[in-house]
Amino acid sequence: MAKNIVIVGAQWGDEGKGKIVDILTESADIVVRFQGGNNAGHTVIVGEEKYVFHLIPSGILHAGKTCIIGDGVVVDPEVLLKEIEVLKEKNLFRPEDLLISKNAHLIMPYHKKLDIARERLRGCNKIGTTGRGIGPAYEDKVSRCGIKCGDLLDEGEFRVKLKTNLLEKNHYIKTILHEDGFEIHEIYHKYMTIAQSIGPLIKNTSKFISDAIASGKNILFEGAQGTLLDVDHGTYPFVTSSNTVAGEAATGSGIGPSKIDEVIGITKAYCTRVGEGPFPSELDGPEADRLREQGGEYGATTGRPRRCGWFDAVALRYAARINGLDGLVVTKLDVLDNLDTIKICTGYKYKGEILDEFPTEASILFKCEPVYEALEGWKAQTQGVKSFDKLPKKAQDYIKRLEELTGVKVTIISVGANRNDAIILKNPFK
Ligand code: IMP
Repeated sequence: MAKNIVIVGAQWGDEGKGKIVDILTESADIVVRFQGGNNAGHTVIVGEEKYVFHLIPSGILHAGKTCIIGDGVVVDPEVLLKEIEVLKEKNLFRPEDLLISKNAHLIMPYHKKLDIARERLRGCNKIGTTGRGIGPAYEDKVSRCGIKCGDLLDEGEFRVKLKTNLLEKNHYIKTILHEDGFEIHEIYHKYMTIAQSIGPLIKNTSKFISDAIASGKNILFEGAQGTLLDVDHGTYPFVTSSNTVAGEAATGSGIGPSKIDEVIGITKAYCTRVGEGPFPSELDGPEADRLREQGGEYGATTGRPRRCGWFDAVALRYAARINGLDGLVVTKLDVLDNLDTIKICTGYKYKGEILDEFPTEASILFKCEPVYEALEGWKAQTQGVKSFDKLPKKAQDYIKRLEELTGVKVTIISVGANRNDAIILKNPFK
Protein backbone atom coordinates (compact mmCIF):
# COMPACT_ATOMS: atom_id res chain seq x y z
CA MET A 1 0.00 0.00 0.00
CA ALA A 2 1.26 3.48 -0.86
CA LYS A 3 2.41 5.66 2.02
CA ASN A 4 3.17 9.31 2.65
CA ILE A 5 5.96 9.80 5.16
CA VAL A 6 7.18 13.02 6.77
CA ILE A 7 10.80 13.36 7.90
CA VAL A 8 11.60 16.13 10.39
CA GLY A 9 14.61 17.18 12.42
CA ALA A 10 13.88 16.46 16.10
CA GLN A 11 16.60 18.75 17.49
CA TRP A 12 18.12 22.07 16.35
CA GLY A 13 18.76 20.98 12.76
CA ASP A 14 21.79 19.24 11.23
CA GLU A 15 20.57 15.83 12.43
CA GLY A 16 21.64 14.12 9.20
CA LYS A 17 18.29 14.29 7.41
CA GLY A 18 19.94 14.43 3.96
CA LYS A 19 21.41 10.97 4.28
CA ILE A 20 18.18 9.44 5.63
CA VAL A 21 16.09 11.07 2.88
CA ASP A 22 18.58 9.70 0.37
CA ILE A 23 18.15 6.17 1.78
CA LEU A 24 14.35 6.35 1.94
CA THR A 25 14.08 7.85 -1.55
CA GLU A 26 14.78 4.30 -2.84
CA SER A 27 11.24 3.44 -1.71
CA ALA A 28 9.59 6.75 -2.64
CA ASP A 29 8.29 8.07 -5.97
CA ILE A 30 8.30 11.74 -5.02
CA VAL A 31 10.33 13.84 -2.54
CA VAL A 32 8.97 17.21 -1.41
CA ARG A 33 10.75 20.03 0.44
CA PHE A 34 8.02 21.98 2.24
CA GLN A 35 9.66 24.82 4.19
CA GLY A 36 12.85 26.79 4.75
CA GLY A 37 15.25 27.78 2.02
CA ASN A 38 18.95 27.71 1.38
CA ASN A 39 19.63 28.15 5.10
CA ALA A 40 19.52 24.34 5.01
CA GLY A 41 22.49 22.23 3.99
CA HIS A 42 21.70 18.57 3.40
CA THR A 43 24.79 16.43 2.90
CA VAL A 44 24.75 13.11 1.08
CA ILE A 45 27.86 10.97 0.56
CA VAL A 46 27.77 8.40 -2.22
CA GLY A 47 31.00 6.44 -2.62
CA GLU A 48 33.80 9.01 -2.84
CA GLU A 49 31.47 11.88 -3.83
CA LYS A 50 30.02 14.38 -1.35
CA TYR A 51 26.93 16.38 -2.35
CA VAL A 52 25.52 19.29 -0.36
CA PHE A 53 22.02 20.45 -1.27
CA HIS A 54 20.57 23.69 0.04
CA LEU A 55 17.32 23.86 -1.92
CA ILE A 56 16.85 20.88 -4.18
CA PRO A 57 15.52 17.84 -2.24
CA SER A 58 18.28 15.36 -1.41
CA GLY A 59 16.30 12.74 -3.38
CA ILE A 60 17.54 14.24 -6.69
CA LEU A 61 20.45 11.75 -6.76
CA HIS A 62 17.97 8.98 -7.63
CA ALA A 63 17.01 8.91 -11.31
CA GLY A 64 13.30 8.80 -12.07
CA LYS A 65 12.15 10.21 -8.71
CA THR A 66 10.32 13.52 -8.86
CA CYS A 67 11.73 16.21 -6.55
CA ILE A 68 9.52 19.12 -5.58
CA ILE A 69 10.27 22.49 -4.03
CA GLY A 70 6.91 23.07 -2.38
CA ASP A 71 4.68 26.06 -1.58
CA GLY A 72 6.19 26.72 1.85
CA VAL A 73 9.81 27.05 0.69
CA VAL A 74 11.52 30.40 0.06
CA VAL A 75 13.62 30.20 -3.10
CA ASP A 76 16.78 32.12 -3.90
CA PRO A 77 16.76 31.63 -7.68
CA GLU A 78 20.50 32.28 -8.02
CA VAL A 79 21.26 29.49 -5.53
CA LEU A 80 18.78 27.18 -7.25
CA LEU A 81 20.38 27.82 -10.63
CA LYS A 82 23.84 27.09 -9.20
CA GLU A 83 22.63 23.80 -7.73
CA ILE A 84 21.13 22.85 -11.08
CA GLU A 85 24.44 23.75 -12.83
CA VAL A 86 26.43 21.53 -10.45
CA LEU A 87 24.05 18.62 -11.09
CA LYS A 88 24.31 19.25 -14.85
CA GLU A 89 28.11 19.12 -14.69
CA LYS A 90 27.87 15.71 -13.07
CA ASN A 91 25.23 14.57 -15.56
CA LEU A 92 22.73 14.18 -12.75
CA PHE A 93 20.17 16.80 -13.78
CA ARG A 94 16.97 15.65 -15.43
CA PRO A 95 14.59 18.63 -15.84
CA GLU A 96 11.57 16.32 -15.83
CA ASP A 97 12.48 15.26 -12.26
CA LEU A 98 12.37 18.74 -10.66
CA LEU A 99 9.30 20.90 -10.05
CA ILE A 100 9.10 24.25 -8.26
CA SER A 101 5.86 25.51 -6.77
CA LYS A 102 4.48 28.68 -8.34
CA ASN A 103 3.42 29.63 -4.79
CA ALA A 104 6.90 29.43 -3.27
CA HIS A 105 8.15 32.90 -2.41
CA LEU A 106 11.32 34.36 -3.88
CA ILE A 107 14.29 35.53 -1.85
CA MET A 108 15.28 38.90 -3.33
CA PRO A 109 18.66 40.65 -3.06
CA TYR A 110 17.22 43.14 -0.56
CA HIS A 111 16.17 40.27 1.75
CA LYS A 112 19.80 39.21 2.09
CA LYS A 113 20.94 42.76 2.78
CA LEU A 114 18.20 43.24 5.40
CA ASP A 115 19.02 39.92 7.10
CA ILE A 116 22.68 40.82 7.49
CA ALA A 117 22.00 44.44 8.54
CA ARG A 118 19.38 43.43 11.14
CA GLU A 119 21.81 40.98 12.72
CA ARG A 120 24.38 43.77 12.95
CA LEU A 121 21.81 46.06 14.60
CA ARG A 122 20.86 43.35 17.13
CA GLY A 123 24.45 43.39 18.39
CA CYS A 124 24.88 41.03 21.34
CA ASN A 125 21.22 39.95 20.99
CA LYS A 126 21.81 38.60 17.50
CA ILE A 127 20.14 35.32 16.47
CA GLY A 128 23.08 34.04 14.47
CA THR A 129 21.11 33.68 11.22
CA THR A 130 22.66 32.15 8.14
CA GLY A 131 22.46 35.58 6.44
CA ARG A 132 20.63 34.08 3.44
CA GLY A 133 17.62 36.44 3.61
CA ILE A 134 15.28 33.77 4.98
CA GLY A 135 13.63 35.87 7.73
CA PRO A 136 12.98 38.98 5.58
CA ALA A 137 11.55 36.80 2.75
CA TYR A 138 9.06 35.16 5.13
CA GLU A 139 8.25 38.58 6.61
CA ASP A 140 7.24 39.83 3.16
CA LYS A 141 5.17 36.70 2.56
CA VAL A 142 3.21 37.27 5.77
CA SER A 143 2.90 41.03 5.25
CA ARG A 144 1.48 40.25 1.77
CA CYS A 145 4.03 42.04 -0.36
CA GLY A 146 6.17 39.01 -1.29
CA ILE A 147 7.01 38.02 -4.86
CA LYS A 148 6.35 34.40 -5.80
CA CYS A 149 8.12 32.02 -8.17
CA GLY A 150 4.97 32.16 -10.32
CA ASP A 151 5.55 35.91 -10.80
CA LEU A 152 8.74 35.06 -12.71
CA LEU A 153 6.45 33.79 -15.49
CA ASP A 154 4.78 37.20 -15.92
CA GLU A 155 7.29 39.98 -16.63
CA GLY A 156 4.75 42.78 -16.14
CA GLU A 157 3.49 41.48 -12.81
CA PHE A 158 7.05 40.86 -11.60
CA ARG A 159 8.13 44.40 -12.51
CA VAL A 160 5.18 46.06 -10.75
CA LYS A 161 5.71 44.04 -7.55
CA LEU A 162 9.43 44.68 -7.60
CA LYS A 163 8.89 48.42 -8.07
CA THR A 164 6.43 48.62 -5.16
CA ASN A 165 8.78 46.67 -2.89
CA LEU A 166 11.82 48.73 -3.80
CA LEU A 167 10.06 52.01 -2.97
CA GLU A 168 9.74 50.87 0.65
CA LYS A 169 12.89 48.76 0.93
CA ASN A 170 15.20 51.38 -0.58
CA HIS A 171 13.80 54.02 1.75
CA TYR A 172 14.49 51.81 4.78
CA ILE A 173 17.92 50.71 3.56
CA LYS A 174 19.05 54.28 2.79
CA THR A 175 17.56 56.22 5.70
CA ILE A 176 17.69 53.69 8.55
CA LEU A 177 20.63 51.49 7.58
CA HIS A 178 22.59 54.22 5.73
CA GLU A 179 23.51 51.78 2.98
CA ASP A 180 23.11 51.81 -0.80
CA GLY A 181 19.71 50.90 -2.20
CA PHE A 182 18.91 48.69 -5.19
CA GLU A 183 18.36 49.52 -8.88
CA ILE A 184 15.15 48.08 -10.29
CA HIS A 185 16.71 47.34 -13.71
CA GLU A 186 19.55 45.30 -12.30
CA ILE A 187 17.30 43.00 -10.26
CA TYR A 188 14.70 42.83 -13.01
CA HIS A 189 17.20 41.71 -15.65
CA LYS A 190 18.95 39.27 -13.37
CA TYR A 191 15.70 37.58 -12.30
CA MET A 192 14.22 37.55 -15.81
CA THR A 193 17.39 35.92 -17.15
CA ILE A 194 17.18 33.24 -14.44
CA ALA A 195 13.47 32.82 -15.24
CA GLN A 196 14.43 31.67 -18.73
CA SER A 197 16.21 28.68 -17.20
CA ILE A 198 13.96 27.76 -14.29
CA GLY A 199 10.62 29.03 -15.70
CA PRO A 200 9.69 25.68 -17.29
CA LEU A 201 10.05 23.97 -13.89
CA ILE A 202 7.54 26.26 -12.14
CA LYS A 203 4.20 24.46 -11.74
CA ASN A 204 1.09 23.95 -9.61
CA THR A 205 2.83 21.43 -7.34
CA SER A 206 -0.02 21.12 -4.84
CA LYS A 207 -2.20 19.68 -7.63
CA PHE A 208 0.66 17.46 -8.82
CA ILE A 209 1.15 16.03 -5.31
CA SER A 210 -2.60 15.54 -4.76
CA ASP A 211 -2.90 13.68 -8.09
CA ALA A 212 0.12 11.56 -7.19
CA ILE A 213 -1.44 10.65 -3.84
CA ALA A 214 -4.69 9.73 -5.61
CA SER A 215 -2.81 7.47 -8.02
CA GLY A 216 -1.09 5.60 -5.17
CA LYS A 217 2.45 7.01 -5.25
CA ASN A 218 4.79 6.89 -2.24
CA ILE A 219 5.70 10.41 -1.13
CA LEU A 220 8.47 11.52 1.18
CA PHE A 221 8.17 14.98 2.73
CA GLU A 222 11.62 16.31 3.61
CA GLY A 223 11.75 18.80 6.47
CA ALA A 224 14.61 21.25 6.90
CA GLN A 225 16.15 22.69 10.10
CA GLY A 226 14.72 21.12 13.26
CA THR A 227 11.78 21.17 15.67
CA LEU A 228 13.48 23.45 18.21
CA LEU A 229 14.03 26.06 15.47
CA ASP A 230 10.28 26.21 14.65
CA VAL A 231 8.98 29.79 14.67
CA ASP A 232 5.99 28.85 16.87
CA HIS A 233 7.24 25.86 18.85
CA GLY A 234 10.99 26.41 19.05
CA THR A 235 13.21 28.41 21.37
CA TYR A 236 11.86 31.78 20.17
CA PRO A 237 13.36 34.23 19.24
CA PHE A 238 16.36 32.01 18.54
CA VAL A 239 14.57 30.20 15.74
CA THR A 240 14.24 30.26 11.99
CA SER A 241 11.29 32.00 10.32
CA SER A 242 9.29 28.99 9.18
CA ASN A 243 7.37 26.15 10.80
CA THR A 244 9.76 23.24 10.85
CA VAL A 245 7.41 20.74 12.54
CA ALA A 246 5.56 17.90 10.81
CA GLY A 247 2.27 19.80 10.56
CA GLU A 248 3.91 22.12 8.05
CA ALA A 249 4.37 19.22 5.62
CA ALA A 250 0.67 19.58 4.78
CA THR A 251 0.51 23.40 4.61
CA GLY A 252 3.85 23.76 2.86
CA SER A 253 2.96 21.21 0.18
CA GLY A 254 -0.70 22.07 -0.32
CA ILE A 255 -2.21 18.76 0.80
CA GLY A 256 -4.60 17.87 3.61
CA PRO A 257 -3.08 16.60 6.89
CA SER A 258 -5.21 13.44 6.64
CA LYS A 259 -3.00 12.33 3.73
CA ILE A 260 0.04 11.89 5.98
CA ASP A 261 0.56 8.33 7.18
CA GLU A 262 3.65 8.50 9.35
CA VAL A 263 6.06 11.01 10.90
CA ILE A 264 9.69 10.11 11.50
CA GLY A 265 11.99 12.29 13.61
CA ILE A 266 15.73 12.38 13.01
CA THR A 267 18.06 12.86 15.96
CA LYS A 268 21.78 12.64 16.45
CA ALA A 269 23.03 10.27 19.16
CA TYR A 270 24.18 13.49 20.86
CA CYS A 271 23.16 17.11 20.29
CA THR A 272 24.36 20.15 18.33
CA ARG A 273 23.21 23.68 17.63
CA VAL A 274 24.48 26.49 15.37
CA GLY A 275 23.75 30.13 15.99
CA GLU A 276 22.76 31.70 19.26
CA GLY A 277 20.17 30.63 21.82
CA PRO A 278 19.75 28.31 24.81
CA PHE A 279 21.19 24.78 24.73
CA PRO A 280 20.90 23.17 28.20
CA SER A 281 23.06 20.07 27.54
CA GLU A 282 25.85 22.04 25.82
CA LEU A 283 29.44 21.05 26.60
CA ASP A 284 32.51 23.20 26.45
CA GLY A 285 36.24 22.56 26.47
CA PRO A 286 37.83 19.27 25.36
CA GLU A 287 34.60 17.23 25.63
CA ALA A 288 32.86 19.52 23.13
CA ASP A 289 35.95 19.66 20.91
CA ARG A 290 36.12 15.88 20.78
CA LEU A 291 32.50 15.54 19.63
CA ARG A 292 32.98 18.38 17.11
CA GLU A 293 36.09 16.86 15.55
CA GLN A 294 34.87 13.26 15.63
CA GLY A 295 31.48 14.25 14.20
CA GLY A 296 32.77 16.83 11.70
CA GLU A 297 30.42 19.33 13.31
CA TYR A 298 30.87 22.33 11.03
CA GLY A 299 27.87 23.91 9.25
CA ALA A 300 27.19 22.58 5.74
CA THR A 301 25.89 26.04 4.73
CA THR A 302 28.06 28.52 6.59
CA GLY A 303 31.02 26.40 7.77
CA ARG A 304 30.46 27.65 11.34
CA PRO A 305 31.63 25.31 14.11
CA ARG A 306 28.57 23.74 15.73
CA ARG A 307 28.01 23.87 19.47
CA CYS A 308 28.04 20.30 20.82
CA GLY A 309 26.47 18.58 23.84
CA TRP A 310 24.90 15.40 25.21
CA PHE A 311 21.65 13.88 23.99
CA ASP A 312 18.75 15.82 25.50
CA ALA A 313 15.83 13.51 26.28
CA VAL A 314 13.66 16.36 27.64
CA ALA A 315 13.87 18.23 24.33
CA LEU A 316 13.36 15.02 22.35
CA ARG A 317 10.23 14.07 24.32
CA TYR A 318 8.89 17.51 23.46
CA ALA A 319 9.78 17.04 19.78
CA ALA A 320 8.01 13.66 19.85
CA ARG A 321 4.85 15.29 21.18
CA ILE A 322 4.80 18.37 18.95
CA ASN A 323 5.44 16.34 15.78
CA GLY A 324 3.47 13.25 16.75
CA LEU A 325 6.53 11.10 16.04
CA ASP A 326 5.85 7.51 15.01
CA GLY A 327 9.52 6.55 14.78
CA LEU A 328 12.99 7.82 15.49
CA VAL A 329 16.14 7.67 13.38
CA VAL A 330 19.36 7.93 15.41
CA THR A 331 22.32 9.22 13.39
CA LYS A 332 26.06 9.42 14.08
CA LEU A 333 26.08 6.69 16.73
CA ASP A 334 29.66 5.91 15.60
CA VAL A 335 30.81 9.36 16.82
CA LEU A 336 30.40 8.04 20.40
CA ASP A 337 32.42 4.85 19.75
CA ASN A 338 35.55 5.85 21.67
CA LEU A 339 34.04 7.45 24.77
CA ASP A 340 34.50 5.97 28.26
CA THR A 341 31.27 7.52 29.52
CA ILE A 342 28.25 8.82 27.65
CA LYS A 343 25.73 11.08 29.30
CA ILE A 344 22.04 11.67 28.60
CA CYS A 345 20.17 14.72 29.84
CA THR A 346 17.03 13.31 31.50
CA GLY A 347 15.66 16.43 33.19
CA TYR A 348 16.13 20.16 33.75
CA LYS A 349 16.59 21.76 37.14
CA TYR A 350 15.05 25.23 37.28
CA LYS A 351 14.79 27.26 40.49
CA GLY A 352 15.42 24.11 42.56
CA GLU A 353 12.70 22.07 40.87
CA ILE A 354 12.87 19.42 38.17
CA LEU A 355 10.86 20.39 35.08
CA ASP A 356 9.09 17.57 33.33
CA GLU A 357 8.08 19.59 30.26
CA PHE A 358 10.42 21.41 27.85
CA PRO A 359 10.06 25.18 28.39
CA THR A 360 10.15 27.08 25.09
CA GLU A 361 10.80 30.42 26.81
CA ALA A 362 14.43 31.23 26.02
CA SER A 363 14.72 33.16 29.29
CA ILE A 364 13.87 30.01 31.32
CA LEU A 365 15.88 27.62 29.16
CA PHE A 366 19.01 29.73 29.57
CA LYS A 367 18.76 29.10 33.32
CA CYS A 368 17.96 25.38 33.21
CA GLU A 369 20.62 23.06 34.58
CA PRO A 370 20.78 19.65 32.94
CA VAL A 371 20.28 16.53 35.07
CA TYR A 372 22.40 13.72 33.66
CA GLU A 373 22.38 9.96 33.64
CA ALA A 374 25.77 8.39 32.82
CA LEU A 375 26.19 5.21 30.80
CA GLU A 376 29.37 3.26 30.15
CA GLY A 377 30.71 3.64 26.59
CA TRP A 378 31.04 0.58 24.32
CA LYS A 379 34.57 1.43 23.11
CA ALA A 380 34.23 -0.53 19.87
CA GLN A 381 33.68 0.33 16.22
CA THR A 382 30.06 0.46 15.08
CA GLN A 383 30.70 1.53 11.49
CA GLY A 384 30.18 -1.45 9.21
CA VAL A 385 27.67 -3.12 11.56
CA LYS A 386 24.58 -4.12 9.59
CA SER A 387 22.13 -5.37 12.22
CA PHE A 388 21.04 -4.30 15.70
CA ASP A 389 22.10 -7.54 17.38
CA LYS A 390 25.63 -7.17 15.96
CA LEU A 391 26.07 -3.80 17.71
CA PRO A 392 28.14 -3.88 20.93
CA LYS A 393 25.82 -4.72 23.84
CA LYS A 394 26.38 -1.32 25.47
CA ALA A 395 25.50 0.47 22.22
CA GLN A 396 22.28 -1.58 22.09
CA ASP A 397 21.58 -0.53 25.69
CA TYR A 398 22.15 3.12 24.76
CA ILE A 399 19.62 2.93 21.93
CA LYS A 400 17.09 1.12 24.15
CA ARG A 401 17.53 3.80 26.82
CA LEU A 402 16.84 6.54 24.25
CA GLU A 403 13.65 4.70 23.29
CA GLU A 404 12.57 4.43 26.95
CA LEU A 405 13.27 8.08 27.71
CA THR A 406 11.64 9.49 24.58
CA GLY A 407 8.79 7.02 24.23
CA VAL A 408 9.54 6.54 20.51
CA LYS A 409 10.79 3.39 18.75
CA VAL A 410 14.05 3.62 16.84
CA THR A 411 13.61 2.58 13.19
CA ILE A 412 17.01 3.33 11.63
CA ILE A 413 20.49 3.74 13.17
CA SER A 414 23.17 5.50 11.15
CA VAL A 415 26.76 4.48 11.91
CA GLY A 416 28.80 6.40 9.33
CA ALA A 417 28.60 9.06 6.66
CA ASN A 418 28.08 6.78 3.68
CA ARG A 419 24.73 5.68 2.24
CA ASN A 420 25.46 2.07 3.26
CA ASP A 421 26.39 2.81 6.88
CA ALA A 422 22.91 2.29 8.27
CA ILE A 423 21.05 -0.35 10.27
CA ILE A 424 17.45 -0.43 9.05
CA LEU A 425 15.20 -1.90 11.74
CA LYS A 426 12.01 -0.87 9.99
CA ASN A 427 11.63 0.90 6.64
CA PRO A 428 8.65 3.22 7.15
CA PHE A 429 7.52 2.67 3.54
CA LYS A 430 7.30 -1.10 4.00
P1 IMP B 1 17.92 31.75 9.55
O1 IMP B 1 17.10 30.54 9.24
O2 IMP B 1 19.05 31.95 8.58
O3 IMP B 1 17.09 32.96 9.75
O4 IMP B 1 18.65 31.49 10.97
C1 IMP B 1 17.93 31.41 12.19
C2 IMP B 1 18.54 30.37 13.12
O5 IMP B 1 18.32 29.07 12.58
C3 IMP B 1 20.04 30.49 13.30
O6 IMP B 1 20.39 30.09 14.62
C4 IMP B 1 20.61 29.49 12.32
O7 IMP B 1 21.90 29.03 12.69
C5 IMP B 1 19.58 28.40 12.43
N1 IMP B 1 19.48 27.58 11.22
C6 IMP B 1 18.90 27.91 10.05
N2 IMP B 1 18.97 26.90 9.17
C7 IMP B 1 19.60 25.89 9.80
C8 IMP B 1 19.93 24.55 9.43
O8 IMP B 1 19.65 24.07 8.32
N3 IMP B 1 20.57 23.81 10.37
C9 IMP B 1 20.84 24.29 11.61
N4 IMP B 1 20.54 25.52 12.01
C10 IMP B 1 19.91 26.32 11.12
